[in-house]
Amino acid sequence: MVLVVTSGKGGVGKSTVCVGLSAAFCRNGKKVLLIDTDEGLRCIDGMLGVSENVMLDLSDAQNSPEDYKQTVTVVDKISGLSVIAAPSEFGVITPEKFGEVIKNAEKDYDIVMIDCPAGVDEKYYSALPMESRVLVVTNSDAAAINGAMNAGLMVKRLGIGNVRLILNKFSGKKVGRLHDNVDAIVDRTGMGLMGVIPYDEEIIKSSAKNMPSEWGRGSMAFSRIAARINGARILLPKSGRI
Ligand SMILES: Nc1ncnc2c1ncn2[C@@H]1O[C@H](COP(=O)(O)OP(=O)(O)OP(=O)(O)O)[C@@H](O)[C@H]1O
Ligand SMILES: [Mg+2]
Repeated sequence: MVLVVTSGKGGVGKSTVCVGLSAAFCRNGKKVLLIDTDEGLRCIDGMLGVSENVMLDLSDAQNSPEDYKQTVTVVDKISGLSVIAAPSEFGVITPEKFGEVIKNAEKDYDIVMIDCPAGVDEKYYSALPMESRVLVVTNSDAAAINGAMNAGLMVKRLGIGNVRLILNKFSGKKVGRLHDNVDAIVDRTGMGLMGVIPYDEEIIKSSAKNMPSEWGRGSMAFSRIAARINGARILLPKSGRI
């Protein structure tokens, strides 16, 4: 399965969702490859504490897609998880070559997860297989919600049908006149809701020392989302308990 994590606005929590969700899948015994496409701004390897082990990155994988495995860095602390770090330079990802890397990786992993950069850039989406599943992340800010709506529309326009929303950093507080509850946000973006992740101080502290299994309520939210992606029917908790 190819699982793409994107957004319109930056800083809404895409990379955090990638790390939390990959860890949840790995807890269920899945083999996950997480690909960081944030060119020039690689961060996934840092979040997982493996930067020093990164020898090659996505630009090397693109140069020789059939040998992409040489560019994979294993994350020892999370059994089943490997990453391909983002290119250190900006502007080197090309849809065609990136698409080949994805196709090869799909054969070797249960889940190939892609962390997109902020902004709605067709180049990342056009590399994706049509049967990819896309998660659009937003927080409760009006600008982030609009960004999510636009990202969702672009992905759907390219022919990818399975697009769902993740509401992150949810505090349960009223936020503005328009978007004061989950329903209003879902309506505005026009996407089905895949899950709600609470605002969680433990997530902010996330680092090589504080792995997703130590995140508090956030960790449970990721487990629920992973189960839903696997087809389980799990209802949202009551809003005070998200
Ligand atoms: N549920 C949460 N609760 C509290 N803090 C969070 C949560 N999710 C993300 N954060 C924090 O928000 C900040 C931005 O998160 P992150 O880097 O994952 O966003 P991003 O969408 O990947 O950003 P960018 O667009 O720059 O790639 C980080 O400091 C992260 O720790
Ligand atoms: Mg990011």
